[in-house]
Amino acid sequence: MMLLRLNMRVALAALCAGALLIMLYWSRCGDLARRPIGSALSNSLVERSNEDIDCVINGEYSVGCRRDHDEVYLPFSFIRKYFEVYGKISASDGVEKFEWSHSYSKIYHPKKKYDPRGTFTTFENYNVEVRDRVKCISGIEGVPVSTQWEPRGFFYPTQIAQFGLAHYSKNLTEPEPRVRIIDDGDKNLASWTVSSDATLVREYDKALKSNAIRFATTDQVGSQVWCKVNISQDFVLSLDLLLKPNSSLSVVLQNKDKKETVYLHYVTSMQLIYAQDEHIYYGIGVEYKWRRLTRDLIIDMQKGWALLDRPKRKSPRNKFRIASIHLSGVGSAANMRVSSSEHMAHFFAAARWLAGSQRARGGWPVLARRRVAASVPDLRPGWHSAMSQGHGISVLARAYHRSGDAAYLRAARRALALLDVASSAGGVKAMWMDRYVWYEEYPTKPPLFVLNGFIYTLLGLYDLHIIEGDNSASLAKKMFDDGMLSLKTLLPIFDTGSGSFYDLRHFTLGVSPNIARWDYHATHVNQLYLLAGLDPDPILINTAKRWEGYMQGKRAAHN
Ligand SMILES: *[C@@H]1O[C@H](CO)[C@@H](O)[C@H](O)[C@H]1NC(C)=O
Ligand SMILES: *[C@@H]1O[C@H](CO)[C@@H](O)[C@H](O)[C@H]1NC(C)=O
Ligand SMILES: *[C@@H]1O[C@H](CO)[C@@H](O)[C@H](O)[C@H]1NC(C)=O
Repeated sequence: MMLLRLNMRVALAALCAGALLIMLYWSRCGDLARRPIGSALSNSLVERSNEDIDCVINGEYSVGCRRDHDEVYLPFSFIRKYFEVYGKISASDGVEKFEWSHSYSKIYHPKKKYDPRGTFTTFENYNVEVRDRVKCISGIEGVPVSTQWEPRGFFYPTQIAQFGLAHYSKNLTEPEPRVRIIDDGDKNLASWTVSSDATLVREYDKALKSNAIRFATTDQVGSQVWCKVNISQDFVLSLDLLLKPNSSLSVVLQNKDKKETVYLHYVTSMQLIYAQDEHIYYGIGVEYKWRRLTRDLIIDMQKGWALLDRPKRKSPRNKFRIASIHLSGVGSAANMRVSSSEHMAHFFAAARWLAGSQRARGGWPVLARRRVAASVPDLRPGWHSAMSQGHGISVLARAYHRSGDAAYLRAARRALALLDVASSAGGVKAMWMDRYVWYEEYPTKPPLFVLNGFIYTLLGLYDLHIIEGDNSASLAKKMFDDGMLSLKTLLPIFDTGSGSFYDLRHFTLGVSPNIARWDYHATHVNQLYLLAGLDPDPILINTAKRWEGYMQGKRAAHN
């Protein structure tokens, strides 16, 4: 149990007045910390020192505390829960300190003006694929499959877009990847072992326009084509692959210290993932066509373990090595390499998925039921999210910028349409007091006015407007301007005086307010700093600063 030193008067006042007085209480702790050691002992009432005393909390229950003369020490475990604050003992140069913090989240102050061609907010810090609610990366589309609201797994457009935006951002912030060629059919050739009944032929493939290896094994046990490698540290395998039915590519991973072997199989199947013992299978589709496969082998291994209910392991990246690569059945392979990362391949997988699965109205329906709040009807499978639309636009605008492929720009523009369709008609638009437009992350009836999802939608609109070029007649620009007017008008209503509201359900549903937990509050602050760089209206920067202060325990003044 941690004891926190407190002046009794202040402590009692704080306990009576509850959270309102936390500031006072805070600064008192600061004073005490600066008091020279020993001065607290220069009190004559030595006999009253360090004895147990009950603290009666609001006349409701008691907590065991300590008394030292005119001071009372409350257990920090109690204070932590009561005020929702955080603390830990840290040591530097052998001196221990207790570090108190009001919130657990971090603010990123933008160093320069937000640019839609650059990183997406702070997404270079995101690692979408490692999240527990990502079942795996699909072998066919190369995008995450979510289990967030549907245990069987479904394509969640927001998550897929975030996966794309994270990889796009990492491509801009991380060092150049290490690339090791395994077999490029040209200067770097692997030495393949071919059993006597199997074949391997090197040839130029006209469809692929590249050198390739053509292989065939038989159904006999021991019929194989494989090559030994010994690669540690880097685990993103990519290659071009053309497979006849019932053929596969397998990668063997070995634990360096323990004698443990894991087999990853990429098979001609439509099944997403299955696993048995040390064998993990990903379906990569059944069509007989060249496909470029890009797989993070460590992620693929971990998702297989999760499927087998094996406990999560720490840093398998440092413990495993790629030991061999096996080809079986009939097919061709080319341009085989292992890299430390392949961010743009993952980014374009997300962009292709978004462009390819967009529906007629420009939307990406969410095919899972979503319970948002107890008092509103569930969103039924097929609902749309303004956040998916906005994130989707952010991905597609960047894909157009990087590739020049106008299909991405057209898809981004098509995605605007649903933002102008009312939630009641299957769209995502709500109106505040019949006057201010709001793009709803969750298009419930009545509306919720979720703040962070709305701002992400605004960013999508901004991204498209900038990337499509200066065009004041742009629909994206008009929707952005309308949304900014709503934001600047409604922002004060999201201010609790000590934090922010996640949404406005207390107004629209008449229920208890939904206060943003610190990571969402920090998201609000980060978003407002970003927008303050695009729009000089002082409400943005002033709100950002005030809300950042709330994270250090500052509060709005009271009467
Ligand atoms: C970023 O993408 C470019 C273009 O695809 C590539 O050349 C570069 O190596 C990538 N860098 C990183 C860090 O991913
Ligand atoms: C793999 O390479 C490492 C050095 O990088 C070496 O220590 C190890 O013995 C090699 N393992 C095999 C099976 O060749
Ligand atoms: C693939 O393998 C399965 C099971 O071994 C077999 O039933 C099927 O006929 C095979 N398909 C082809 C096209 O070889």
